[in-house]
Parts: sequence; structure tokens; C-alpha cells
Amino acid sequence: KKRFNIALLPGDGIGPEVISVAKNVLQQAGSLEGLEFDFQEMPVGGAALDLVGVPLPEESFKAAKESDAILLGAIGGYKWDNNEKHLRPEMALFYLRRDLKVFANLRPASVLPQLVDASTLKREVAEGVDMMIVRELTGGIYFGEPRGIKINENGEEVGFNTEFYAAHEIDRIARVAFETARKRRGKLCSVDKANVLDASILWRKRVTALASEYPDVELSHMYVDNAAMQLIRDPKQFDTIVTNNIFGDILSDEASMITGSIGMLPSASLGVSGPGLFEPIHGSAPDIAGQDKANPLATILSAAMLLKYGLGEEKAAKRIEDAVLDTLNKGFRTGDIYSPGNKLVGCKEMGAEVLKSVDSKVAAT
Ligand code: NAD
Ligand code: IPM
Ligand code: MN
Repeated sequence: KKRFNIALLPGDGIGPEVISVAKNVLQQAGSLEGLEFDFQEMPVGGAALDLVGVPLPEESFKAAKESDAILLGAIGGYKWDNNEKHLRPEMALFYLRRDLKVFANLRPASVLPQLVDASTLKREVAEGVDMMIVRELTGGIYFGEPRGIKINENGEEVGFNTEFYAAHEIDRIARVAFETARKRRGKLCSVDKANVLDASILWRKRVTALASEYPDVELSHMYVDNAAMQLIRDPKQFDTIVTNNIFGDILSDEASMITGSIGMLPSASLGVSGPGLFEPIHGSAPDIAGQDKANPLATILSAAMLLKYGLGEEKAAKRIEDAVLDTLNKGFRTGDIYSPGNKLVGCKEMGAEVLKSVDSKVAAT
């Protein structure tokens, strides 16, 4: 039997609800492939602030850093929204991403045939969409210096941030994107704002320079405003998208809606070595927290990405993906992806159904 240490970071709001469901699915799919997991659950975000007064306690970071892979729920909530910056729950995410050096954030967005009707786009526009957004995660305006709020020479308060990219940061994310595109349909679209931003001019130059090393990949460039429009006009034109930290954040939320719901999209954050960080792209959804309404599929699919990209256990990952499709085929839907004729269920019941499908698939083979 293979054993793995998994750090579970449930976080806040719907985080604990979706993590408890995804943990069971991960455990079951793994055990059917002879994998055993030692789970270590640690507080992060608001939960950690309430317990010990900091968003990312040292012990939580240590458990994450020393694990084989990390599954995170979501972080944040109204309660801490007026905290000073360094005491905001979201700081836990930035510390984790930065200190684990997980610079490559893979955010797949595909329209499942079962959910075409949940998309807000017309069937013929949404059907068949299958893209991968490669978001740079440890640089750009999120981390650039200088930043802050200060009093200027006129005595007025000014807030400022810096979009900053070093050549090596662009090169390494571009390489991940070229490799990703190569394994998909061989099309890579780099999204920037090179008509305005210097950091984007360098971005486009570096990405273009790398293209000769990947002659099998067809590279194109697009300005981010156009990309936001094209995603809604004709999302099928995209295969792999590579973009900076903030554009990737925004475009992936936009892409999620094409697929039916933000409650469907998983992500993997990877570095060169060390554990990967796996989390749904959605937040803590304080508006529905504690009501058993959250869609756990984004987190369950993040557990599948953990198996595939984090542990190299593709068979176990496939079990989870198949079980999700099976559950959708049976008509089970949480509120966010519900359409008439289906069976409306809560977070727990959705999880129980996926678990059943993980099991029944085995019985069938
Ligand atoms: P959000 O993603 O939490 O919610 C946006 C909307 O989508 C809400 O109406 C919510 O109910 C819905 N939604 C989100 N996930 C869902 C799910 N699984 N099932 C059904 N509906 C779902 O974004 P927000 O409201 O802008 O942010 C709320 C808090 O979450 C903030 O504190 C924010 O900073 C934080 N946040 C954290 C992460 C993260 O931990 N990675 C990501 C985004 C936002
Ligand atoms: C995400 C989130 C975070 C981000 C927030 C909560 C800091 O929106 O993971 O997409 O902007 O990266
Ligand atoms: Mn986001």
C-alpha cells in the first residue's frame, strides 16, 4: 500500500462543508487504488485568526509544507473584512502560494454535456467548451513592490500597487503553458495588456521568444479586454490561455460561468518541487455558508487534480471524475447548477451521491 500525507485546510464559510465531502471522496477513490492517506486538518484564514490571531499559523504552514499535497477549501468572510491588511484571512492564501512557490495555477474550464443547460450562454455557444487557463500565481500586481497607502505632497491619501514581472517569472509560467498546450489541442493564447502596460510588453516579448522551442504549439496573443469579450462571444476558440496573476483571477471566474457555475471549477497550483496546493476557484460564499447549499464538485474535482498532478495517481483521479459525471447523469444538482427536471440536493447529499458512484463503478468492473 502506498501512503500519502494530505494537509486539509478547510478555511472559512463553505470551505469546511466542501472539504469534509471531498475528503471522503478522495479517501474512497484512493483506497480502491490501494492508496492510504493520513489527513492532517489545520486552520487557515478567518478560522485561524479566531483561534490564534494570525491568518496562517506556523504549524499550519509546516503541516502544508511537509505534506505530499494540500487540499484547501476557501478563505474569507464578512466578519474579518475590516481587519487591517496583515490580519485579513486572505493573507493566508498569499503566504501559502508565495512560500510554497506554487507559481503555476491550472484552472480547467469545460462544459460538461450534462450541464449545458446550466450555462448562461446559448447551447450552441457553450457546448463543447474545453479550455485550460494557466494563471501566474506568485507575481504580478499581487506581490509587486512598491505598494501601499500613503499621504502625497498635497496631503492627500494615495493607494498604489505595482505590476511587476521579472523575465524568469514570465519564462517559467510560459513554459508550463506551452507544455500544457502541447498535451491538449496545441493552441496557446497569451493574454496581456501590452498596448498599455510595460510589464505586459515584456510578457509578450518573452512568451514570443519561447515559441520557437515549441514549434508544435500555435501561439497567439490577445489583449485582456478583448479576451473577456471573446470568452463570451465564442469560448470554443480557446484551448490553453496563459496570463498574469490578476487577469487570470478575473478571466477564470468569467470562464466558470460558461460551464454553469463557479461551484464547478477546480484548480491546481504547482511549483518546481514540494507539495502542490489544490483548491476550488470559488471563495467562501458567506451568503450561503452553513446552509448545506454549496456545490462541492469544484472541491471534489480539485481532489482529482490532487491525485493526478500532485501524486501522479491518474487512475484514482479518473475514478473521481467518472463518479462526478455519473452523479450528474443521475440528475443530482445543487442549486447553482439546477435546471427543471433534475433532483435538487444539498452539499452533503451531493457528496454522498458521488461517494456512491465511486463505489458502484467498482462493483461494475
Ligand atoms: P465567492 O466565490 O465566495 O462567491 C461568489 C458567489 O458565488 C456567491 O453568490 C456564492 O454563493 C457563489 N458560490 C461560490 N462558490 C459556490 C459553490 N461552491 N456553490 C454554490 N455557489 C457558490 O466570492 P465573493 O463573494 O466575492 O467572496 C467571498 C469571500 O471569499 C471573500 O472574503 C473573498 O476574499 C473570499 N475568496 C476566497 C477565495 C479562496 O479562498 N481561494 C476565492 C475567492 C474569494
Ligand atoms: C482566488 C481568489 C483569491 C485571489 C483572493 C481570495 C485573494 O479570488 O483564488 O481566485 O485573488 O487569488
Ligand atoms: Mn478569484
